[in-house]
Amino acid sequence: MIILNKFYVTTPIYYPSGRFHIGTAYTTILADSMKRYHMLKGEDCYMLTGTDEHGQKIEEKAKEQGKTPQEYVDKMAEDAKKLWKTMKIDYNDFIRTTEKRHEEVVQKIFDKFMEQGDIYKGEYEGWYCVPCESYFTETQLVEGKCPDCGREVKLMKEEAYFFNMKKYADKLLKYYEEHPDFIKPDFRKNEMINNFIKPGLEDLCVTRTSFDWGIKVLKDPKHVVYVWLDALTNYITALGYGSDDDNLFKKYWPADLQIVGKDIARFHLIYWPIFLMALDLPLPKTILVHNWVTMKDGKMSKSKGNVIYPEDLVEKYGLDSVRYFLLREMPTSQDAIFSPESFIERYNFDLCNDLSNLLNRTVSMVNKYFEGQVPKYNGTPNDVDKDLEEFTVKQIDLFDEKWNKYEIANSIQEIWTLISRTNKYIDETMPWALAKEEEKEKLSSVMYHLIENLRKIAILIKPFMSDTADNILRQIGITDEKLINFETLKPYDKLQNIKVIEKGEPIFMRLNAEEEVEYIKNLMKK
Ligand code: MSP
Repeated sequence: MIILNKFYVTTPIYYPSGRFHIGTAYTTILADSMKRYHMLKGEDCYMLTGTDEHGQKIEEKAKEQGKTPQEYVDKMAEDAKKLWKTMKIDYNDFIRTTEKRHEEVVQKIFDKFMEQGDIYKGEYEGWYCVPCESYFTETQLVEGKCPDCGREVKLMKEEAYFFNMKKYADKLLKYYEEHPDFIKPDFRKNEMINNFIKPGLEDLCVTRTSFDWGIKVLKDPKHVVYVWLDALTNYITALGYGSDDDNLFKKYWPADLQIVGKDIARFHLIYWPIFLMALDLPLPKTILVHNWVTMKDGKMSKSKGNVIYPEDLVEKYGLDSVRYFLLREMPTSQDAIFSPESFIERYNFDLCNDLSNLLNRTVSMVNKYFEGQVPKYNGTPNDVDKDLEEFTVKQIDLFDEKWNKYEIANSIQEIWTLISRTNKYIDETMPWALAKEEEKEKLSSVMYHLIENLRKIAILIKPFMSDTADNILRQIGITDEKLINFETLKPYDKLQNIKVIEKGEPIFMRLNAEEEVEYIKNLMKK
């Protein structure tokens, strides 16, 4: 029996406190692309996303709109699902923290922590930031304001339950040390150690009495479970942990990859592993922390009038250009900057000039010189072909290596280096001259290699530009699933009896840069 590798990937669950912008869409696109990559490797994949629906902020938002919190979150969760459909996010489950399957298990987990002595009752006083739903100590404040969002904080005191984090600090440090792949990129680990663990881990307040919209503590119902204990456990409750049907949990836990933005790194790299240790469960294999999509003038915000919504870009420029741009522009150690100019530039140069033209030139030449029939591979490539073959295999390896190190932008860059090299191969071999000189054999080999490289390129981009990949494959006449996976990616002798379509269709058309930059600027002001 062949046992398939499994791959469980999660996104954070989003606060349904407003419309999702391209920044929030980024995490989900990344997770979806990761899933699709592992699917092409033939693995058994499962992706989870969802919404984080409790807390004071949601309660307040609902009130503003004259709705009950439940009515409010129901509508927001529907909107989120609609957006993910537009972005073709291939998730397997969408968890909402207001679902019974989640709430019941959170209550069980809370009780278990109480019984074990991990949770104790005390009193909390601190500086509270309402939008972030976080307390801060005096020293954590930046100029007296919230260190995360820069807004006003207020001094608050309440009876509360605490989770004894200190008890697990050494165990956590040891875990970090023994599992070098646990946190990516590496520098995030040092941030956690130096900023939070070494100075002394503070116990985490895990309940509130100041609002109602949350999961009640069964044995002390004036308390509701504070959002982070509620939210983080979604990754296991969604799989049925602690319920009668925990088959998915047995199959997929521990997660292979959990993706989070830098602002919630602390919760995922410290509290989440400690909760799992307290539950005596294995920890996720890797938690990947990414940076933010920002604008030239800093963070996206409605008041600055610089917010851009994914649906608007998708409607005008198509889904894949948006997915491509976001993944391609996000460096590993810095924030990405969205600008209308860079978006249009990437569209015109990378997608239209490089990729779309390679396809068009190739399809039209195979039609012109061979009536659409892709010549057979002759098995003995000449020097120019051999050079291309070796270059291509090297690029595939580089792509794979960087992708698996989560250097996503760099790994995509390697594909574009391959696209450029393949375009250069046309200039080097000059098929039009070969046709005149009746160098039929050489010409056949050039056409074969071009189609093969387009097949390889399509497979490489398929995880993050699935529609474009399928379109390329259709145009070059490759529909056999056996030829569309990572297993058959490298060899050059795979194509037989392939016919390209009669008339090529451009996949990306050149845009008028000035007009489109203006168009996007207006979207941002809207
Ligand atoms: N509800 C919590 C997460 C709980 S997970 C158990 C939350 N929600 S959020 O909606 O505020 O943010 C969700 C994710 O979106 C986070 O990973 C956050 O970093 C990410 N992003 C929000 N704005 C972003 C950008 N501008 N750019 C990239 N990612 C951004 O936090």
